Amino acid sequence: MNPDSNELKALVQKITDLPTLPAMMATITRLMQDPRTSAEELGRAIASDPALVSKVLKLVNSAFYGFPGRISTITQAIVILGFSTIRNVVLTTSVLKAFGKNASQGGFDVGKFWEHSLLTGAISRSLAVEREANFVEETFIAGLLHDMGRIVLSQKLTAEFEKVLLVKEKAGISQLAAEQSVLKLTHGDIGGWLARKWNLPIPYVEVMRLHHFPGEALNLEPPSQSDTTNLIYIVHAADALSKGLKDGKPDLASADAIDPAVRAELKIGAEGWERFQLRTQEEIGKARAFLEIL
Ligand SMILES: [Fe+2]
Ligand SMILES: [Fe+2]
Repeated sequence: MNPDSNELKALVQKITDLPTLPAMMATITRLMQDPRTSAEELGRAIASDPALVSKVLKLVNSAFYGFPGRISTITQAIVILGFSTIRNVVLTTSVLKAFGKNASQGGFDVGKFWEHSLLTGAISRSLAVEREANFVEETFIAGLLHDMGRIVLSQKLTAEFEKVLLVKEKAGISQLAAEQSVLKLTHGDIGGWLARKWNLPIPYVEVMRLHHFPGEALNLEPPSQSDTTNLIYIVHAADALSKGLKDGKPDLASADAIDPAVRAELKIGAEGWERFQLRTQEEIGKARAFLEIL
């Protein structure tokens, strides 16, 4: 769906209390765009929020990043892990804080939602490693955030969400089909809108918007194309695989749910599957630790 469609504009107008990202996120993005910014400057910006500092330090010292117990200051964390990793950590912390990790509401189970997000993030990361992609960490974050539109729909558009659930049940159709029938758009459109409103990097915007419609990823204009298309393909596949785990590992049978064009492009075949399964199990464990710290 076109991000400027009238249906989307009319729908999001009904959202009155959308959480905002902390002002610091904007400062960090601005500092990162300036090549003269030093690690000390970026560190000072983050240091203005002590709760965030302790979370970032906990995370970078966790098994997820592989430097257990060795990083004691934010500046050190920035030097060792790089600007973009720290930005990703701050971004994820802020997004989770904005919507809450545990607050279940109505017919929406937030715990289940984050479990699905975590699995999709971990499988995305594992797929990116398998494909030797150069945006492994972004892939984890993109997978973790891909369904944010669902949380906005359930928490901020409650009446519409209830209608969707009703139609889903009555007609015995999928959640996505029910959204299309009731809203003339999907949680992907809502997620893409949110990501743009929050000024998230473009690849995250497009993953949130197009993860159910990977075919549309080919229509993106350069320079969004290429890496972003790849990212959308990976998250689309991981989303499908996350729904059919067997003994905590991706199952080849559930690969059928992946769009055929994506499957062909990612070449998810029997070859290398075992290696991918084992790595995914490891990634899921690490992702769990990541989410627990946040
Ligand atoms: Fe989705
Ligand atoms: Fe999903």
